[in-house]
Amino acid sequence: AAVVEHTFNVGNLTISRLGHSQVITAVNGQFPGPKVEARDGDTVVVHVVNNSPYNITIHWHGILQRLSGWADGPSMVSQCPIRPGGAAYTYRFNITGQEGTLWWHAHVSFLRATVHGALLIRPGPDKPHYPFPTPHGEATLLFGEWWNASVVDVERQAMLAGGAPNNSIALTINGMTGGHELAVRHGETYLLRLINAALNYQLFFKVAGHDFTVVAADACYTDPYDTDVIVLAPGQTVDALMRADASPGLYYMVAQVYQSLANATYTATTTALLRYEHDDATAEEATAAGTSMIVMPTMPAFNDSETAQGFYGSLTGLLPDGKPTVPLHVDTRMLVTYGLGVMPCSPTQTLCNRTRGSVAASMNNVSFQLPTTMSLLEAHRRGNVDGVYTRDFPDRPPVMFNFTSAAASTNRSVMLTSKGTKVKTLRFNTTVEVVLQNTAILGAENHPLHLHGFNFYVLSQGVGNFDARVAVRSYNLVNPQQRNTVAVPAGGWAVIRFTADNPGVWVMHCHLDAHLPFGLAMAFEVDDGPTPDSVLPPPPPDYPQC
Ligand code: C2O
Repeated sequence: AAVVEHTFNVGNLTISRLGHSQVITAVNGQFPGPKVEARDGDTVVVHVVNNSPYNITIHWHGILQRLSGWADGPSMVSQCPIRPGGAAYTYRFNITGQEGTLWWHAHVSFLRATVHGALLIRPGPDKPHYPFPTPHGEATLLFGEWWNASVVDVERQAMLAGGAPNNSIALTINGMTGGHELAVRHGETYLLRLINAALNYQLFFKVAGHDFTVVAADACYTDPYDTDVIVLAPGQTVDALMRADASPGLYYMVAQVYQSLANATYTATTTALLRYEHDDATAEEATAAGTSMIVMPTMPAFNDSETAQGFYGSLTGLLPDGKPTVPLHVDTRMLVTYGLGVMPCSPTQTLCNRTRGSVAASMNNVSFQLPTTMSLLEAHRRGNVDGVYTRDFPDRPPVMFNFTSAAASTNRSVMLTSKGTKVKTLRFNTTVEVVLQNTAILGAENHPLHLHGFNFYVLSQGVGNFDARVAVRSYNLVNPQQRNTVAVPAGGWAVIRFTADNPGVWVMHCHLDAHLPFGLAMAFEVDDGPTPDSVLPPPPPDYPQC
């Protein structure tokens, strides 16, 4: 195993997109930031130096962080931020039994819009091969969003007004609003590593004239799944094989917004080009084929939930050695409702419409507040959590109601929402099953829920109100997909299961960035285990203090 070492210098970068020059926060003057490439079993060491004007933390999205919770990165959950003015913190973690495509991003305010990059894990020396034929080449496509404005200002404005942030003005592919190209050779197979780093939008992705075989999602291998469209929620990744078997020429690769809200109107699209190298064609043939036309794929409608859910629901996990791995015994069962609602404007929300109120989001009617004096993990470690968090996150919503009918639920559930920093404590190595139920208070929306520190099995998903008696028949306990981010259907539910075998404090939250400051989050606290190799070590010496 090797040590993969990087220095991330976070600072201002002036770049120009769509004819507009904008100062952004970026790592090492690059947008997207540097690619981190490692193999399973390696140790990753990243020295982050903050020369930007903002507080910074970096999260390694999807990395399991076994016994290294101090390096997880969410601001005020696993650490206090790294202060501006040259403060530094070194993130150090091992890659333990993970392969595939992940990414890293800032985990404070909206800065992840520009502070992000790919994190690729190739098979390690013990098992050097992919569980599919070795591709001839690979390409990383990282999707993002672009504002002609400072993203910190965009967030501040939304919070003061208590409403949704201004939409981005464009989608990006590898940081570009157009013009990105991928060259392929006829007859070869490519591994596409797709990352949705957009702040607030799910995406459909297609390549004209080409189909895919999905082989992994969130760096968990899947059974090969053939499709001509890939769907990614913010935070999610997909590894897909694409065979370059079309006639030589130019093909559009298109990423387009998928919107689950019935009345949504945002429909951004962005393109890149797939270009065949013409090794076998004569110059005349190549010119004729390459310039005659560019082929555009037929995209789903921007609100095509059937296609989105069809994709999300079709993936199954590739069994290691053909054996099921889902834990069958469940120690803790939870039903967690979540969604957007409204609360009275707070005095600091100076631009908030007092009659309408402020958008608030909650899980089991608790709107999550980050602590201010020390991180949740530090308080957990000290054993004295007073004033930082409480251990009363409820296992169920305070009242059962018709979750997916706005009319039936509005008043009661909204009135009961309160703010708090509540965690759910889990004993080491116990298994928890969580039914995630979307509520329709401000309209049913597909929220991608991301869990830190674990991959979970997605046993089943469906629309409407969760009904255990019916749903249990649909559980896949043999080869369910594993993920770190599940796009729970709009007005529906998903059932996830995981074993709490990693001590620390792990946040679960909506990966639509706008919903995090509104409170769509909770955290699990996992006790240390009984043996020395199941105890969280002490924090590193340079661990930031608040
Ligand atoms: Cu990719 Cu808590 O986030």
